[in-house]
Amino acid sequence: MELRHLRYFVAVAEEKNFTRAAERLHIAQPPLSRQIQQLEEYLGVALIEKGSRPLRLTEAGQFFLAHAKPLLDQVRDLKAMTQRVGKLERTLSVGFVASTLYGLLPDIIRRYRERHPEVEVTLQEMTTVDQLKALKEGRIDVGFGRIKSEDPSIRRIRLRDERMVAAVPSGHRLAQRQEGLRLLDLLHEPLFVYPKAPRPSFADQVLAAFSEANLVPDHVTEVRELQIAMGLVAAGQGISIVPESVVGMHHRNVAYLQIEDKYAFSPVLFSVRHMDRSPELENMLAAVYSIYDDMNLSYEKERL
Ligand code: BEZ
Repeated sequence: MELRHLRYFVAVAEEKNFTRAAERLHIAQPPLSRQIQQLEEYLGVALIEKGSRPLRLTEAGQFFLAHAKPLLDQVRDLKAMTQRVGKLERTLSVGFVASTLYGLLPDIIRRYRERHPEVEVTLQEMTTVDQLKALKEGRIDVGFGRIKSEDPSIRRIRLRDERMVAAVPSGHRLAQRQEGLRLLDLLHEPLFVYPKAPRPSFADQVLAAFSEANLVPDHVTEVRELQIAMGLVAAGQGISIVPESVVGMHHRNVAYLQIEDKYAFSPVLFSVRHMDRSPELENMLAAVYSIYDDMNLSYEKERL
């Protein structure tokens, strides 16, 4: 049995159709069918129910799929990591969600560069969902994001929980409030959530915070990204809910108010390829914790 057989079988099982799987694999359908047949002969069991349309897996097929996928993920990780080890100069590619750039990310990267000037650090802004894909494809080595995923090929460390705040137009009646705000106070305001795609996203975390409080906001508009939401707030078009880091953006015409609800928090996550234990990653994690210590932030330390 070769890796090719695993890759072909996973494509057929996921597409539930030989024609689509062959297109995805950029091969013709007859050789694809032959390879699957070879695999079944080698294993001595049927993986696909004969004549089923859309195609259905046998129990053995489902078992094989569940184990073949993580194996293929590991092979892909192995490629990205071996290439990294083999490079003479040390590099670290970091993916980050936009909100972190207005908060602690610059301090953390500075600290890391001061401690490890020999490592070339590159930064790319991307959503958490895109970070997972980029990690698997070896385009980044670490992602700072917010959305949990159950992907077995990714290791996630929850760095801390960050409070959500309301961004409201300065001059808005809520901006004059002295006491803290509750999600209930925002229910009838035009609310901008971001990003529109890919989902799940920070938009879903904001809506989940409302639903945890048994609330459904009246007027929700999805916008492409944080900067658009902030621009619309500054223009007086409505309000947005953002992580506290965004307060560092110092947008003209925007006031920020703490939200006091119990569920109005967004995690900051450190994601890496599951098998990757490179010193660069350990050192990055140490840089994060040292900035947290300097700022007296509460967190639970985890090891890579
Ligand atoms: C944070 O806000 O906790 C954070 C931001 C960027 C990278 C790591 C942590």
